Amino acid sequence: MSNIVVLISGNGSNLQAIIDSVKNGAIEGRISAVISNRPGVFGLERAEKAGIPAITVDHTKFTSRADFEQALSQTIDQYQPDVLVLAGFMRILSSEFVQHYLGKMLNIHPSLLPKYPGLNTHRRVLENGDKEHGTSVHFVTAELDGGPIIAQRSIHVTADDTEESLQQKIQQQEHKLYPEVVSWLCNGRVQFKDGKAWLDNQVISI
Ligand code: GAR
Repeated sequence: MSNIVVLISGNGSNLQAIIDSVKNGAIEGRISAVISNRPGVFGLERAEKAGIPAITVDHTKFTSRADFEQALSQTIDQYQPDVLVLAGFMRILSSEFVQHYLGKMLNIHPSLLPKYPGLNTHRRVLENGDKEHGTSVHFVTAELDGGPIIAQRSIHVTADDTEESLQQKIQQQEHKLYPEVVSWLCNGRVQFKDGKAWLDNQVISI
């Protein structure tokens, strides 16, 4: 059974979807810790309610990124995770940190990557008049939102959509997609090999 650690920065609705999927057996794993870089966020409450250790490593308490990441990885490594899940974790990670967890670390990003890496994806979709938007789950590599994509879900953008409505629609998709991909990494269906994502021993090309 895989050992999962989840990193968050906020609300934790994706964390909740993963907690629920562990509970109902759709994910063959256990969440051994939830770690937030921001104190007092709702995602920590969700973890506590589920009986999962909820830990804060507050990035503002460190003078450098390197010191923060050292404390973060020391905390993570106490739990010896097989799978490290970024669920709305909003800190950029150094290549040293990423290298340490390469092949084990997943991120979900609210766009159809490689379109719109970075912030404010919903706003940029509206500004550009895109008719299609979506969400992507990928392995984390040193390139920001640039690691190999494992799966995506798309939605239609309608004339009356706003940033808020897009966020809502995207998150509905994320709450189905992310637990599924986490379950694939836990049961070995998904692997990271030769810098690529593989599903059932085939390279995924998106
Ligand atoms: C999610 O929609 C996720 O795609 C996004 O933050 C949200 C977190 O929501 N992640 C990023 O923007 C990462 N660059 P949640 O805290 O309710 O799961």
